Amino acid sequence: MSQTAKLVLEDITRTFDGRKVVDELSISLQPGQVTCLLGPSGCGKSTTLRIAAGVDRQDSGRVLLDGQVISDNQHHLPSEKRSIGLMFQDFALFPHLTVAQNVAFGLKGSGKEPAVTVMLERVGLINYGDKYPHMLSGGEQQRVALARALAPKPNVMLMDEPFSGLDNRLRDGIRDETLHILKEEGTSVLLVTHEPEEAMRMADQIALMRGGKIVQIGAPYNIYNNPKDREAAAFFSDVNVILGVAENFQTQTPFGLFFTPALQDHTDVEIVIRPQHLKIDFDRNGTGPNETSTDGVPARGVVQRARFLGNESLVELRMDCDDSTLTAAIPGVFLPKDGTPLWLSMRRDRCFVFPCVKQKSA
Ligand SMILES: Nc1ncnc2c1ncn2[C@@H]1O[C@H](COP(=O)(O)OP(=O)(O)OP(=O)(O)O)[C@@H](O)[C@H]1O
Ligand SMILES: [Mg+2]
Repeated sequence: MSQTAKLVLEDITRTFDGRKVVDELSISLQPGQVTCLLGPSGCGKSTTLRIAAGVDRQDSGRVLLDGQVISDNQHHLPSEKRSIGLMFQDFALFPHLTVAQNVAFGLKGSGKEPAVTVMLERVGLINYGDKYPHMLSGGEQQRVALARALAPKPNVMLMDEPFSGLDNRLRDGIRDETLHILKEEGTSVLLVTHEPEEAMRMADQIALMRGGKIVQIGAPYNIYNNPKDREAAAFFSDVNVILGVAENFQTQTPFGLFFTPALQDHTDVEIVIRPQHLKIDFDRNGTGPNETSTDGVPARGVVQRARFLGNESLVELRMDCDDSTLTAAIPGVFLPKDGTPLWLSMRRDRCFVFPCVKQKSA
């Protein structure tokens, strides 16, 4: 790392009722970068953020700001002394203050008014300055909370699902504007979300969380294209899973051989592929396309269900070889009828090969 990280969480553990909700988690925020904590509900994202903010305290581990320890088992700098911008999941506006006063709350000295006007303009609420929070919709209140958090231009910003209450169209605009402001100010951001698309859109680095731990961290492109395991792949889109068994460092499947040099004989293998990366071909009297090195061996199936989603169609096929169901996403101009035989092949460079992990029973 070339620069000192702005904010570092080091081996943080937090236990509630004997359960480790955050489990020896470490992460650092680089100057001017947006890091997204991404993971399913209950995996410990908000708890991690609250510890970074100082409103909750870890059982063990340290928090550092600009290289200085601000929280360990002896010291704990309270939240209000950390000069960190915060926006929590349950953001609360001051009910007795107007919108403009809410936004001005964290600002000091002269020049408050123009700063408030600029912020209200940026979140699309320029005519709302004199209103009180109860006169606003949920989404409008959320935008005021965003403006309030962004107005003091903090060096470090912690945000918990800051766009969750906004409708799709508004959310895209506000999200882009927020990112623009944060980048313009060179703010280091830890942003919590459970939406992969939001993380991909916002993040310089994504930290994928599961069960209180970070399972993978990296740039969105890398996380999406090199997931660590099936679950990591499946967090970003639906996936197809083709099963096999490793023998002699290779695994035989209906789609041809896959090399599995790192896996011992008899290891159960799962080949994972996103629906977008399956290719469809027409059936010509029982034959399909030729085998190629890029797409492997094609296998035949029969359309069970095809759904038109606009940009793309999702086609579910029951495979002749083993009656399994695979889903392909194809351009929306094509919508095959149920019962149509089609050939599927897999883009080899888009397949992920993992040893099978036993599913935990629910
Ligand atoms: N103060 C608390 N006391 C007891 N349990 C808690 C407390 N705070 C959080 N938990 C539990 O810790 C787990 C993680 O909670 P957390 O709020 O960090 O999840 P999250 O990843 O933010 O989820 P979501 O996406 O739903 O907001 C949950 O099971 C939650 O019930
Ligand atoms: Mg949460």
